[in-house]
Amino acid sequence: MSVSSALVRDARTSRTRRALLGAGYRRVLRPALFASHGGDPEEVHDATLARLAQLGRVPALVRALGRLTSVPSRPVEAFGIRFPGPVGLAAGLDKGARAVTAWQAMGFSHVELGTVTAHAQPGNPRPRMFRAPASGGLVNRMGFNNDGATAVAARLEAAGVRRGNRAAGIPVGLSLGKTKATPVEDAVPDYLASFRVLAPHADYVAVNVSSPNTPGLRSLQDGAALRELTGALVAESRRSANPVPVLVKVAPDLDEQALDEVLEVCTSTGVQGLVATNTTLARDGLAAPDAWLAAEAGGLSGAPLRERALRVVRHLSSRADLPVVGVGGIMTAGDAEAMFDAGARLVQLYTGFIYAGPALVADITARHADRAEEPR
Ligand SMILES: Cc1cc2nc3c(=O)[nH]c(=O)nc-3n(C[C@H](O)[C@H](O)[C@H](O)COP(=O)(O)O)c2cc1C
Repeated sequence: MSVSSALVRDARTSRTRRALLGAGYRRVLRPALFASHGGDPEEVHDATLARLAQLGRVPALVRALGRLTSVPSRPVEAFGIRFPGPVGLAAGLDKGARAVTAWQAMGFSHVELGTVTAHAQPGNPRPRMFRAPASGGLVNRMGFNNDGATAVAARLEAAGVRRGNRAAGIPVGLSLGKTKATPVEDAVPDYLASFRVLAPHADYVAVNVSSPNTPGLRSLQDGAALRELTGALVAESRRSANPVPVLVKVAPDLDEQALDEVLEVCTSTGVQGLVATNTTLARDGLAAPDAWLAAEAGGLSGAPLRERALRVVRHLSSRADLPVVGVGGIMTAGDAEAMFDAGARLVQLYTGFIYAGPALVADITARHADRAEEPR
């Protein structure tokens, strides 16, 4: 058999495997998961994460699943890191680094753990996570429920995850947030405390100033506050012989002037990349059966967020050379392609992964690799 016919056959096998993976998830696994635990999304989330954590502790299983989800990929360089492919798991799904070694088996090329705060905190009262299935969305007001920086660092240490060692199989980002009980005026020492504990375990750090669910947090995106915060974190990072790249995650609800201010501050303080975007406070794009969610407080993600996130990524990418990680409303490989066209260097998924499973990760990775070969 000639090399070219072998390649064509491989591509077909990979496409068939992805189609089966996608259909199996959407038709069998997703309905079973969504109906389990009385249909409570957060309980389903916790139980699934616990399973993934178990899986991640069995290297043979990780390898076997990895073979099922793996597709040809094109590496991406950003903020001094070589990513094996373009798709990461967005922050918030594995807040406590419980399944850190399992994400490579789902086909991801990086994972953003957290958001972690300096002090452990319970988050908002339940229910605080809602599905909008007719709209391909989620609404959440989790409020940074997490075990705190010291406990998460201990978990990473136990898993052997340290900066640059690829013990998770893929680069690991850590998302840092402000402890709810810390007044916003004292945000800098609060973030610094988490940074000192977690940076040794992170390939990059994402400064989350854009969650809508911690009172006052988004005010840290304002010029002077953001300058003080990012200045302090970048200075702390540069104290190390091997500085960890610092990224900033922004909200989709900022106007162009505010985005320009974020860009100016980030560029001048030495921030190395942007993650755009977090969830939105807007409620447009909810289909009629999900309209009741307009009255639930929290951030909306998934398909209704797509256009907003895309607009922010396009604006940021057109104004500066900082690499942008595009996140928000990526539900298909075509959505990811639009993000790359808007200037994103990497993409991340949360809601799309819940609705479409690992096949979506594989589809995006394969399409991104194919694009390299197409004449442009
Ligand atoms: C339940 C839930 C929890 C989240 N928690 C966090 C978080 O802790 N930190 C963060 O930066 N983003 C968090 N996010 C936002 C996602 O990382 C992502 O930016 C957003 O959902 C848009 O992407 P998507 O449309 O692919 O979901 C959360 C999203 C959801 C749905």
